[in-house]
Amino acid sequence: MDVEALERSIREAVEEACDLQALEAVRVRFLGRRGELTTMLRRVGEAPEADRPRLGREANRLKRLCADLVEARRAALLAEAPDPHYRAPVDGTLPALDGGPGRRHVLLSTMREMGEILRGMGYRLARGPEVELDYYNFQALNFPEEHPSRDLQDTFYVTDDVLLRTHTSPVQVRYMESHEPPLKIMCPGRVFRNEAIDPSHAAEFHQIEGLYVDVDVTMADLRNDILLFLRELFGPDTNIRFKPHFFPFTEPSVDVDMTCHVCRGSGCAVCGQTGWIEIMGAGMVHPNVFRAVGYDPERYTGFAFGIGVDRVAMIRHNIRDIRMFLLNDVRFLSQF
Ligand code: PHE
Repeated sequence: MDVEALERSIREAVEEACDLQALEAVRVRFLGRRGELTTMLRRVGEAPEADRPRLGREANRLKRLCADLVEARRAALLAEAPDPHYRAPVDGTLPALDGGPGRRHVLLSTMREMGEILRGMGYRLARGPEVELDYYNFQALNFPEEHPSRDLQDTFYVTDDVLLRTHTSPVQVRYMESHEPPLKIMCPGRVFRNEAIDPSHAAEFHQIEGLYVDVDVTMADLRNDILLFLRELFGPDTNIRFKPHFFPFTEPSVDVDMTCHVCRGSGCAVCGQTGWIEIMGAGMVHPNVFRAVGYDPERYTGFAFGIGVDRVAMIRHNIRDIRMFLLNDVRFLSQF
């Protein structure tokens, strides 16, 4: 065995270790359980008997040498590292950091814009709590006891009958309980669902609910208001179509499609070549909801709709990931 060559490679390796991590790798290479020096010592017994004392001495000497070199190098590296308590003196000649004034969050400005349009159409603002009773979120809205959305997998429960609202529809019930028709309200706010998170699903997002109740309100009124609203929001060449759907609190219920914002109806990848994209849910208020708030369903009719604010903001600004809204990354937020 070439003791001199080994000593040389130890010295070189330690000298070249430029940080603590690299140094630790060097220590392991020579002194670790399977290290070169450890192995060398173990092999002394295999050497011819006459050589053993000398080899043992050399191996032990190299071991000590290596340990000392590593320690010295560690101390040197630590001395070079910047002191975490050190603070650079203030350079008063540097330009100031560009803090700039803050700005409105893109979700809030979208919500306000949608609210402004609805206000112009006669909708008054109504609000309700984010932590809601099962009664308002489900029961009074005609959800059967065993409805799947009541499942723990979809709803965040606080207690058996207190939950984080899963939509803004409970505000309808609260408002109708304390007001008589005719009424026309919008209810913006945050809602919560126990979703698997991905680019198009977040556990908290935002909706605006619309509700109109009077005598002789028809589905034609619903269609008219939604069309007006979406044309204001997405442009005058926007069209809509209704597809049959189901919500427990409306009958009939519809899914509303609108002209694809990318291809304007000719068909593209975003709308799956159909020219349409789904934008909201709507329908005629179910008689059972009127009964729950003490309205006579023979006398009054009404419509309701619910639209996702996050989705509107994503469509209008071409945002691909709903999670961006809540990350508070200034590079994202300062673009709007
Ligand atoms: N609350 C429904 C939802 O969150 C949307 C909706 C509102 C549907 C009003 C019809 C009427 O999915």
